[in-house]
Amino acid sequence: MYKVLTFDNISSRGLDRLPRERFEVSSEIQHPDAVLLRSAKLHEWDVPDTLKAVGRAGAGVNNVPVDAMSARGIPVFNAPGANANAVKELVLAGMFLAARNVCAAWAFAESLEGDDAAMNKEAEAGKKQFTGFELPGRTLGVIGLGAVGVNIANAAAGLGMKVIGYDPKITVRNAWNLESNVTRAQTVDEVMAASDMVTLHVPEIEETRGMINGARLAAAREGQVLLNFARAGVVDDDAIIKALDEGRLSSYICDFPAAALKGNSKVVALPHIGASTNEAQENCAIMAADEIRDFLETGNVTNS
Ligand code: MLT
Repeated sequence: MYKVLTFDNISSRGLDRLPRERFEVSSEIQHPDAVLLRSAKLHEWDVPDTLKAVGRAGAGVNNVPVDAMSARGIPVFNAPGANANAVKELVLAGMFLAARNVCAAWAFAESLEGDDAAMNKEAEAGKKQFTGFELPGRTLGVIGLGAVGVNIANAAAGLGMKVIGYDPKITVRNAWNLESNVTRAQTVDEVMAASDMVTLHVPEIEETRGMINGARLAAAREGQVLLNFARAGVVDDDAIIKALDEGRLSSYICDFPAAALKGNSKVVALPHIGASTNEAQENCAIMAADEIRDFLETGNVTNS
């Protein structure tokens, strides 16, 4: 009987992939063969001697000490692409919100007082400040062409946007999936200079930590919208604030709350909900559970 320790309310559709006649699955297990988690942080010193595999029901693996696991020969499985549609939809929502100044316009409408007639009069007088722009013909820069980046690039191209993508490590499969009208850039600066909107889809690793810094933002097209649904650490928040103050960026839409950005009217910060749909959580749980089941039972590594 294999023992799988679970954290974070992993979707039951995923847990059902571990047949109970062969797998004991619980959040209470003491000596697990595998751990299945979403956001819980796994520390090196918490790892029991019995552990043989880790399944992360999501794309990034920052909450798992991957190097320490590798040193012990413990594979860390993830779920690349399983939540790509969910993230794509929220990024597109962020792009539309930013293009039409929806959050600021909503805050303005909420601040109006009086009866309907009075509020409508004030709304008419004030609405010009929220004039936005339309997406067709605008340029979207996509930094990181993994499953999420490719989905977004293709969707934006479908909306009539010009799309420029950058990823020095794009896989053959992702390159194949990319629509032919998506241009490939050679550098991040090239993307920053050419784009009305830039969306980040890179993991947080040594090469990407703080990659959107003051110098990169100085190269950005004036009034650019920056979207970060990847990881907070890939941008330098102080540089973002400066770029917003100077008008280099018109808005920053991100999926992480940050003290430094709080209260800034040009920032929309969400509580890391990019992958928070029932569908994505099911897909991620199924993929990660299948991977640890196959590995424990057959030794096969099926992480795609
Ligand atoms: C990811 O890495 O795919 C996301 O962090 C997923 C999540 O929020 O669970």
